[in-house]
Amino acid sequence: MARETLLRSKLPLVAAPMAGGPTNLDLIEAVSEAGAFPFLAGGYKTPEALSEQIEATRTLGVDFGVNLFVPERRPVDRRTFSAYAVELQPEAETYRITLDAEPVVDEDYWQQKLDRLTEYPVPVVSFTFGLPTQDDVERLRSVGTTALASVTTVEEAKAAERVGADGLVVQGPQAGGHSATHDPSRVPEMADTATVVKQIAETVPLPVVGAGGIDGPESVRRILDAGAEAAAVGTLLLCTDEAGTSATHRAALADPLFTETVRLIADEGVVGV
Ligand SMILES: Cc1cc2nc3c(=O)[nH]c(=O)nc-3n(C[C@H](O)[C@H](O)[C@H](O)COP(=O)(O)O)c2cc1C
Repeated sequence: MARETLLRSKLPLVAAPMAGGPTNLDLIEAVSEAGAFPFLAGGYKTPEALSEQIEATRTLGVDFGVNLFVPERRPVDRRTFSAYAVELQPEAETYRITLDAEPVVDEDYWQQKLDRLTEYPVPVVSFTFGLPTQDDVERLRSVGTTALASVTTVEEAKAAERVGADGLVVQGPQAGGHSATHDPSRVPEMADTATVVKQIAETVPLPVVGAGGIDGPESVRRILDAGAEAAAVGTLLLCTDEAGTSATHRAALADPLFTETVRLIADEGVVGV
């Protein structure tokens, strides 16, 4: 029987959205068959490609979420950009890639995707790298969609509450992929995800999904005990048969040379892990 919670699924488990290939329809189907809550990754996709995936997911007859990247509207720091480009240059040359001399502004079809999600509503939408406006949240809520904000600190969680988010995806610093921080110039303190979940769950009265470094039943238990209603996993799914993870990525994950989570930090800001 389904639990009465923010995200309706048999198990308190969520397949975290993973843009760039890993989250595909096969993974979504396997996750929902297993009783967990599936998330589509809307980032890096055209609105048309996202709509196609949404329509295919609807045929499964389960609840699901769609994740969107919130565009960064602060201007790029040119000095940091140039320094990072210089650092990447030797590797780029190996692959005969020409690096952009100027920062490229890309909003990832933010407005078009939001408009489509309002016109053709889905059960849940989550936001990453920043917050939607209160108007965006209200528009989604008016069509029956639950809006979740990805946050990494108590301050970000409070800001999410102020724009009216229905719940939080609390991401700890051990999470794979990009940090969901709202401030790329901040270097996150290393902390256990359960600790961050507990801090936020005790401060902000919104339901929480915890994510980051969850690698088995014991870490799921810790996240739930810390106050989360569900635990989201990303990296754990990357090497499944169903995931659309590239061969290079799979090989790197299985390579005994790489044994720990490393944070890539350009100047003072986190680039990814
Ligand atoms: C390859 C990859 C791609 C990711 N893409 C997204 C994304 O598109 N949107 C998002 O909110 N989080 C993204 N994440 C972060 C996950 O949603 C989640 O927070 C993280 O994977 C949890 O930590 P774990 O990998 O240790 O399980 C990605 C993570 C990985 C590993």
